[in-house]
Amino acid sequence: MASISLQNVSRHFGDFAAVDGVDLEAASGEFVTLLGASGCGKTTTLRMVAGLEQNTGGRIVIDDEVVSDAARGAFMPPEKRRLGMVFQSYAIWPHMTVFDNVAYPLRIRRRPKDEISQRVKLALKLVEMDSFAARPAPALSGGQQQRVAIARALVFEPRVLLLDEPLSNLDARLRTQTGDEFRALQKRLGITSLYVTHDQTEAMALSDRVVVMSKGRILQIGAPEEIYRRPNNRGVAEFFGSPNLIAATARASRPLADGLFSIDVEGDGWSGQCQASEGFSPGTVVSVMLRPENMRISDGDAPAMSWKGEVTASVFRGAQRSLSVKTAAGPLNVDISAFAHPAVGSNITLVADEAAAWAMAT
Ligand SMILES: Nc1ncnc2c1ncn2[C@@H]1O[C@H](COP(=O)(O)OP(=O)(O)O)[C@@H](O)[C@H]1O
Ligand SMILES: [Mg+2]
Repeated sequence: MASISLQNVSRHFGDFAAVDGVDLEAASGEFVTLLGASGCGKTTTLRMVAGLEQNTGGRIVIDDEVVSDAARGAFMPPEKRRLGMVFQSYAIWPHMTVFDNVAYPLRIRRRPKDEISQRVKLALKLVEMDSFAARPAPALSGGQQQRVAIARALVFEPRVLLLDEPLSNLDARLRTQTGDEFRALQKRLGITSLYVTHDQTEAMALSDRVVVMSKGRILQIGAPEEIYRRPNNRGVAEFFGSPNLIAATARASRPLADGLFSIDVEGDGWSGQCQASEGFSPGTVVSVMLRPENMRISDGDAPAMSWKGEVTASVFRGAQRSLSVKTAAGPLNVDISAFAHPAVGSNITLVADEAAAWAMAT
């Protein structure tokens, strides 16, 4: 398997930088996901790795091979890069059987019959679709069609798999199931994968590391839990759900053992301790992130990190209930047990889980 390295990679269309100085490494066997809103440059980045788009700046290296170097005008065409690709539209041919769909790329390259048969069987086995070989492609569910597309990408034994929103045509339940299956397959094969999605939940569930992008640039790279719990700015924090970002003033900072810092903060009528990735000099205004699931309704206690407020909205979501609460610190979002149902208009006190409080520069 192979590693992928993007070094200061850019793609300009005229004056517009669709991708702007991206630095990114995927280790051999790693599952790395590019995550960001529509138009942030994910597909363009993937297409440059594939060689379907030429980078106007920087270098792309697969294993130790420079496949593109803008400064030297070096460019290896896509068919020489040995990559497997899966896209949003299944792009499997409806008039062919499953077998013929997977065999197609080998046939157009005029591989011997025996080799084709062997490789197709192996690829179909990998995605557990070998018993469907004779089926016409339209007689498959969306998830099965996507597995055929993955088998077709694997049939060349690619060094790397590139996947662009491969699940977004599936309905919600199938998306989760197919995603989980694909993750298991990727782990089993140990194939380096670069995956693109705009869906945060999908990115967190599948990836070893997530690359959060915005406007052609990388905002943060990290393991899913790191990105979710320790965003390095508000943009990343707000990309996942609806976190509370509460203004406060840093009073003191102490380094912790693991490279993090403990920060004493004071807000309007509350105070407490947060963690942060940096120390702040006393008096610095910071944003304290508390996710809705990191707050609860007080059962009589009123610690320093708590807010009095009035319930303004209550939404039943099955697994939990989401409340909006009007407080002096602004409106706060809280997820509570679906069995609790404080009335809209009632006054409550919200208590934060201090261990989850995360401070960022504003
Ligand atoms: N061939 C092109 N010519 C001009 N602009 C392009 C071209 N391809 C992509 N773009 C622009 O580059 C930006 C990034 O596009 P894309 O990589 O497709 O985003 P994403 O996949 O994150 O939705 C968008 O603003 C898009 O309109
Ligand atoms: Mg795209």
